[in-house]
Amino acid sequence: MLLKSVKSSLLLVLIVLSQHVYATEGMWLPQLLSNLNEKEMKGMGMKINASDIYNINKGSLKDAIVSFGGFCTAEVISSQGLILTNHHCGYGSIQKHSSLENNYLENGFWAKTFAEELPNAGLTATFIVRIDDITKEATAGVTKAMSETERQSVIDQKLAEIKKSAKRESWQDVMIKPFFEGNKYYLFVTETYKDVRLVGTPPSSIGKFGSDTDNWVWPRHTGDFSMFRIYAGKDGKPAEYSKDNVPLKPKYFLPISMKGVKKDDFTMVMGFPGRTMEYLPSEAVKQTVEVLDFAKVEMRDAALKIIDGYMRKNEQIKIQYAAKFASTANYWKKWQGEMLGIKKTDGIGKKQRYEVEYNRLLNANPALKQQYAGVLDTLNALYVQINPYAQARDYYSELTKNAEIYSAIDKFLEYTDNAEKQKGNADGYAKARTDFQNTIKAFYANFNAGVDKDVFISLMDIYVNKVPEKFRDAKFNASWKKYNGDSRKLADYVYATSAFTSFDKVNALAQLPFEQMMQQAVNDPAVQLAIFLREGFANQVAPTLNALQLDINKRQRTYMKAQMDVFEGKKNFYPDANSTLRVTYGKVDGYSPKDAVEYDYYTWLDGVMEKYIPGDYEFDVPAKLIELYKKKDYGKYGVNGRMPVCFIASNHTTGGNSGSPALNAYGQLIGLNFDRTWEGTMSDINYDPSICRNIMVDIRYVLFIVDKFAGCTRLVEEMKLVN
Ligand code: ARG
Ligand code: ASP
Repeated sequence: MLLKSVKSSLLLVLIVLSQHVYATEGMWLPQLLSNLNEKEMKGMGMKINASDIYNINKGSLKDAIVSFGGFCTAEVISSQGLILTNHHCGYGSIQKHSSLENNYLENGFWAKTFAEELPNAGLTATFIVRIDDITKEATAGVTKAMSETERQSVIDQKLAEIKKSAKRESWQDVMIKPFFEGNKYYLFVTETYKDVRLVGTPPSSIGKFGSDTDNWVWPRHTGDFSMFRIYAGKDGKPAEYSKDNVPLKPKYFLPISMKGVKKDDFTMVMGFPGRTMEYLPSEAVKQTVEVLDFAKVEMRDAALKIIDGYMRKNEQIKIQYAAKFASTANYWKKWQGEMLGIKKTDGIGKKQRYEVEYNRLLNANPALKQQYAGVLDTLNALYVQINPYAQARDYYSELTKNAEIYSAIDKFLEYTDNAEKQKGNADGYAKARTDFQNTIKAFYANFNAGVDKDVFISLMDIYVNKVPEKFRDAKFNASWKKYNGDSRKLADYVYATSAFTSFDKVNALAQLPFEQMMQQAVNDPAVQLAIFLREGFANQVAPTLNALQLDINKRQRTYMKAQMDVFEGKKNFYPDANSTLRVTYGKVDGYSPKDAVEYDYYTWLDGVMEKYIPGDYEFDVPAKLIELYKKKDYGKYGVNGRMPVCFIASNHTTGGNSGSPALNAYGQLIGLNFDRTWEGTMSDINYDPSICRNIMVDIRYVLFIVDKFAGCTRLVEEMKLVN
C-alpha cells in the first residue's frame, strides 16, 4: 500500500516534471524568441542564440527560409540560391514539365548545368525582411461601442495608411496580418523572387514512395524532396523571368550537418504553417471532431470507395482520378486521425479542465472577473447553437464538391455571369466564352459520368438523411418526393438528360445565343437541382450561420484576450498559424500509438526494401536504388553500413510546414519536414506532446539520392557540409 502510494506520487512528480522541463507546443514568432523562448530552447539543448535565428542587422536563419509559392516552405542551401523543398510541393511544377517522352514524375529530372534548369511561370519564393508590431497604430480608432463591421472598417482604413507609409525599398512588399484573433497586428516587409527554376527531383518511386497508403503514416520511407533555384536580376533584386537572370546570392544559407540525430536531441523547424485553431472552447473542439470531421469523413468515405472501385478496374479512370483521389484522400485521412487523437488523449476533457482552471483564476481576480464575465460560457453556448447550421454547411459543401456535376454547373453559372456583363461587347463575350471552354475542357478531361453518377447517388442519400428538411429548399424537397426518395431514379433521369455530363454538350450549350442558352440551362435538370440545393443553403442555413459566426468571431477575440490576461505570467501564448513565418522546437522521439505498440524514431533503407512491391504504383523501388542497397554503396552518407531515411520529433507543425528545414542545436540542416503522424494530426486544435510528431526525411538520404543515385554531384559541391 505504502509502496504503491510512494510509487504513484513519484509518478506524479515525474509527470509534472516532464510537463515542466520543456514544452514542445507552439509556433512562435521569430522576432519574439529572445523574450519568450530562448531560455527554454537553450535548456532543451540549443547552442545558438535567438539573435542567430532572427536578426534584421545581419544574415540570420530567417534569411534562408522562403515561402514557396505561398503554399509550402523551402530553404536556401547554397551560396548560389539553391533551395530545397518537398517533392509534393514541387509536384505541380514537375508535372507541368513532364510529357510522355520526358516523364519527370516517373523518372526524375536532374539539370546537369545551370542552363538546363527549368523556369516555372508563376512560381515565387518570398523572404521575410522584417517584422514589426503595429497593433497600437492599427487599432487606434477603435472604440468599445463599435459593431464588428464598424470596427473592421476602421481598422482596414488604418491598415491601408500604415501599409502605404511603411518603410521599405522599392523592390520590397508590405503585408499586414491579424494575430491572436485580431488582438494583435504585425507588419511584414517581404522580398518576392519570381524566377524560380526546377533543378532536380527524384522519381515518384522515391519522392512519393508509399503514396496514399503511407500518407500521414509512421513508420515512413519517403524521400519527399525536390530542388529549385532562385534567380535574380543582375543587381541581385527580384526580377521577372529572363534568361539573363543570375543565381541569387542569398544573405544566408544553411550549412548541412552530416551527423544525424539521436533520441532527445533538440530540433527546430522554421517555416510557414497555414492554419491552426488552438484556442477554441471545449464545445468547439467537440463540434470539430464529433460533428464536422465526422460529416466530412462520412461523405468522403462514400465518394472514395466508389472512385477507388472504378480506378482499380479501369486504367483510363485511374489516370483521370489519381490526383483528385489523392487530394480528397489527404484530408479524409487527416480528419480521421484528428478524431482518433482527440479521443486517445481525451482532448475534450483536457479543454474542459483548462476551462475550469481559467474560471478559477478569473474568479479570483475581481478586475478580470468584471471585464470578462460570461465570455467563455456565451462562446460555448454559441457553438452549441451554430452546430446544426455548421453541420448542414459541411454536408452541403462535401456533396457539391465530390459529386462533380455540381462543380461543372458552378463553373457554368460563373460563365453566364461574365457573359451577361459582356453582352454589349462582342470581343469581351468571345473571350469569356473561350475562357470557359478552356476551363471545362480541362475539367471534362478528368471526368467520367458513370463514376460521377454513382458518387451522386451515394452522397445524395447521405445528404438527405443527415440534413433536416427545414435546412433544404422546398422545391428540392418536392422533387425528392416526386422520386420517392430514390436517388438512383433521380440520378438516372438527371444524368440521362442533363447537358453537364460531357464537354461536347456543355460546349454546345455555351455556343448558343445568350437568351437561348439561359432558356435551356434553366430547364436542365442538373442545373435545377443545383440551384435548389444552393437556395436551400443560401436561404435556410447561411443567414443564421453567418450571423452566429460573426458573433463567435468577436467573442473568440475577447476570449483570446481573456485567456492571455488570466494566465499572464503562468503561460506564454503563441498565435494560431496564419501562413506567416514561425519557429517550432522539440525533441527527437518515438511514441506509442496504441497499447503495446512502441514506435522507434528512425527508419532505414531496409524498410524501403521491406515495403517493396515490384510494379506496384505505390511501392515500386527503382532498380538503381536496389543495386545501391545490395552493395551498401552509400558513400559518406551511410551510418555503419546502413542508410537512414526518415525520423520524427515533437515539433509542432501543420499544413504549409511542408518543405520546412529541420535544424539541430547549431542551426544546421538535418532534415526536411513533410508530414505528421496520423494520430497526432489533432495538433491543429489540441497539441499533445505524447503523440504529436512531425515527420522529416533525413538530409543524408536526400544527399545520397542526389549524389549516389542521380550522380548530380555538382549540387552537393555547392553545399556546405559539416561533420
Ligand atoms: N500529408 C501531407 C500533407 O498534408 C502530404 C500530402 C501529399 N502526399 C500524398 N500522398 N497525398 O501535405
Ligand atoms: N503535409 C503537410 C504540408 O504539405 C504538412 C503537415 O500537415 O504536417 O504542408
